[in-house]
Amino acid sequence: MPPQLPDARRLALLHALGVQQVWLRRAELDADTLTRLLPTLPGAARGVPQHAASPGEPAPQPPRAARPDARTPPTSVPVCAPTPRQQGPGAGLAATAAGAAARGAGEPSAARLQRIAELDLDQLAEFSRACRACKLGAQRRHAVPGVGHPRARVMVVGEAPGAEEDQRGEPFVGAAGRLLDNMLRAIGLARDAADAEQAVYIANVIKCRPPGNRNPEPDEIAQCAPILRRQIELVQPRLLLALGRFAAQALTGSSEPIGRLRQRVLQHAGIPLVVSYHPAYLLRMPEDKAKSWADLCLAMDTLDKP
Ligand code: URA
Repeated sequence: MPPQLPDARRLALLHALGVQQVWLRRAELDADTLTRLLPTLPGAARGVPQHAASPGEPAPQPPRAARPDARTPPTSVPVCAPTPRQQGPGAGLAATAAGAAARGAGEPSAARLQRIAELDLDQLAEFSRACRACKLGAQRRHAVPGVGHPRARVMVVGEAPGAEEDQRGEPFVGAAGRLLDNMLRAIGLARDAADAEQAVYIANVIKCRPPGNRNPEPDEIAQCAPILRRQIELVQPRLLLALGRFAAQALTGSSEPIGRLRQRVLQHAGIPLVVSYHPAYLLRMPEDKAKSWADLCLAMDTLDKP
């Protein structure tokens, strides 16, 4: 089922939640609706989106995701424009793990790969919790395997757990996670939705927190990537949404910066893949929420394609 058309009350709620950029998908708009809704949008009176963080939005966090490309300030009225479709690199996680292995970086054993290939989602979670294949296993408090509907239509992929995720064993539960939940809600999706159509499955490339939120190292990526690969295989999402440079590059196998990967429909393992900014980055750079909304619109438009 397509997400609900954002009405004025819903937009006001999103605004209160700190989601100030609501991009309306052109497919859902007629002229009357547009005329009715535009005045309700934050910043619409001035014709430009507002970017200030709302009172409910936490202070900037230490970087979890890499900084994106040079930013251009959004100037348009927040309505999604059609974007060019493009197939992109699809080597993805296999290449990520293989690349690390080629560099001699903690290649997963054949037995590990074989074991992972046999597990279902619950077993993968158990496997992750017991995993000691790299040094992160000894340092974490909780492994963070993933959460969501086992047949979710959309799978969101982040980088690695942060401090709060490590405490709770669930992905994206800190400040960035709250923003992610708000963003997903605005397009009619939720991590706890009972219906697969509205559900997301959320996972990270790396299941254990790198100390001090440092970047994951090649051996850690090599050992962990097969778990995400198996999760994707099991969930069979209709769309992958990679958040942040690390996840985007891991899933595409590309080293292009996020600014060149976003706003394209890429592929991973035959599944359409849309790339956007990491919510932790958006907390630091709220002016880029507009671009992020454009990416979410592209994701939903891709899902709606027959
Ligand atoms: N950042 C991520 O990439 N994943 C999380 O689970 C939390 C923060």
